[in-house]
Amino acid sequence: MPDTGITRILVKEAEIAKIVAGLGEEITEHYRGIGGELIVVGLLRGSFVFMADLIRTIHYPLVVDFMAVSSYGTGTVSSGDVKIVMDLDESVEGKHLLLVEDIIDTGSTFKKVIRMLSNRNPQSLRVCTFLNKPSRRKYDVQIDFCGRDIPDEFVCGYGLDFAQKYRNLPYVGVLGK
Ligand code: IMP
Ligand code: MG
Repeated sequence: MPDTGITRILVKEAEIAKIVAGLGEEITEHYRGIGGELIVVGLLRGSFVFMADLIRTIHYPLVVDFMAVSSYGTGTVSSGDVKIVMDLDESVEGKHLLLVEDIIDTGSTFKKVIRMLSNRNPQSLRVCTFLNKPSRRKYDVQIDFCGRDIPDEFVCGYGLDFAQKYRNLPYVGVLGK
């Protein structure tokens, strides 16, 4: 991986495809015959690559929307603070809401976003994350659909960034020190 700064690949492209396909099946099964509208909400910017792949594996009519929150500066350590940078366009009231995240780390971002979205009275609220770092959890978050647990390492690629870079890598890798 010359010039990338990535020293090790943690999730290869082929594994990503399998993870996404599996999640798509689970999610499709969950919403099958449920009735009502489904809105899939991605948290920007990290979730957009995963979200693009994921929605094509969900076989239920849906609309997509995005929300931008920021929890990290340019470093690799969580500040623990979440700010709403861009809100949803769509109303979620009375709809089935599926919240999509790239990675759940301490859970701080998700906990706040979930609380806020619950207050907007969706008919149901489910959570899907591509990656999960359970060893780092500080806030309890119920994850309904989880792609893969990973160890406590800072990862990049497939939408995940370090200082806004590396999002375009087609795999998930560990950044060298
Ligand atoms: P949390 O609030 O601590 O759960 O942090 C969640 C957010 O931090 C995610 O949406 C990511 O944007 C970012 N994040 C956490 N761990 C990583 C990582 O290993 N690589 C890149 N971004 C990460
Ligand atoms: Mg990020």
